[in-house]
Amino acid sequence: MDTLLVTGVTGQVGEVVALALADRYHVVGLARFGDAAVRERLEAGGVECVPVDLVGGDFSGVPTGASGLVNFAVVKTQKWDLDLRANAEGIGLLVDAARPQRLLHCSSTGVYDPAGSTVLDESAPLGDNHRAIMPTYSIAKIAAEEVVRTMCRVLQLPTTVARLNVPYGVGPDGAPRGWPAFHLAMMEAGMPVPVHPDRPNLFNPVDIADLARSVPALLDAATVPATITNWAGEEQVDLEEWCTFLADRCGLTATFETTASTIGGVTVSTERMRSLCGPAEVRWRDGFGRLADAYLAGRQVGEK
Ligand SMILES: NC(=O)c1ccc[n+]([C@@H]2O[C@H](COP(=O)([O-])OP(=O)(O)OC[C@H]3O[C@@H](n4cnc5c(N)ncnc54)[C@H](OP(=O)(O)O)[C@@H]3O)[C@@H](O)[C@H]2O)c1
Repeated sequence: MDTLLVTGVTGQVGEVVALALADRYHVVGLARFGDAAVRERLEAGGVECVPVDLVGGDFSGVPTGASGLVNFAVVKTQKWDLDLRANAEGIGLLVDAARPQRLLHCSSTGVYDPAGSTVLDESAPLGDNHRAIMPTYSIAKIAAEEVVRTMCRVLQLPTTVARLNVPYGVGPDGAPRGWPAFHLAMMEAGMPVPVHPDRPNLFNPVDIADLARSVPALLDAATVPATITNWAGEEQVDLEEWCTFLADRCGLTATFETTASTIGGVTVSTERMRSLCGPAEVRWRDGFGRLADAYLAGRQVGEK
């Protein structure tokens, strides 16, 4: 069985992807594992867990020469030096230590300059998209892409950089995940969801199950110099529409606060992604329906 290293394996996306891939790869998950319950779930699902701190740079426990490294780690302390070191230098140092045969680096469509409802392909201008809510995020993600692209050429390491839009799904704990799950929690608390005035706020949400399905093909598509692709759902969805959909399904009320202190819509072309790994298959209403079901099941457990 091929070995796959997965960083950020305790995160919202990484855990679900690692567990989904554990039946066809020997998955070695890398993170700090501060939450023992997540580590238990991963180990029960067949993922070998190796503690690693991307800031510290000690990767002595990480196996070398794996078939692939999939990087879902992200550090969002909003401290500039720390976030640049962890996200950009950290992946460079890890690649140097682990020398995988292929690299899939998860970036973000938050690297694009804000462009309203313009559909962005991979050549669109980059910018400081997330400044209003996470000052270091976009710049640290751009910096990480550049480190990865450089390591790709220096080490002749076939690499894919995949810019993820809005992931969502249901975790192995049965709880909703991703930004839409955060919106559910806000609506449950009676809080208005912030919406950028540059309406409509369009995104391409993608079910984490679709991300897991596409990982092997995106590793196969890795090249020197790196292949850059968006990683997103096929449907454009307005943030207000998905909140209203979730609220209706969950017996909540969606209210909105129009403010420039939030990120605006980011909607992307999936043409290159389709050519590399095929389209995302889950329709957003089906996927968000499962989020709503998970939310309602969790509420029932809480009420008992
Ligand atoms: N969620 C979104 O809406 C979204 C949207 C677009 C793109 N993305 C991208 O998708 C990827 C996954 O995001 P996510 O939402 O799943 O992230 P997340 O839930 O915040 O998880 C972050 C992961 O990074 C690990 N990590 C943090 N600090 C670390 C350190 N110092 N050393 C080693 N590992 C560390 C965490 O593990 P420990 O804490 O256990 O160390 C965790 O596994 C990221 O590249 C993110 O930028 C996410």
